Amino acid sequence: MSETPSDKPLVASCEPTVLTLEPGIYWWCACGRSKEQPFCDGSHEITDIKPVKLRIADTREVALCNCKHSGGRPYCDGTHHTMKPVSSP
Ligand code: FES
Repeated sequence: MSETPSDKPLVASCEPTVLTLEPGIYWWCACGRSKEQPFCDGSHEITDIKPVKLRIADTREVALCNCKHSGGRPYCDGTHHTMKPVSSP
């Protein structure tokens, strides 16, 4: 398996997660290593990357980026169309 620099996010998936979020605070995984995509599970601790805080005021549907390269993170902006699929080790 190839090493990825600790300041570069992994591509967790080449499509967003679309879900309805209730009001509250969420932590979006920015490093791509979480097993709880699209949310943080603490896996970023081995990297220099921090999760992104997402505050939801009213219940709404969101499309959260899983390629981790969106220009509008944590939301999907279509950048995943330019990403390579996740490769097997
Ligand atoms: S999943 Fe769509 S821009 Fe990352």
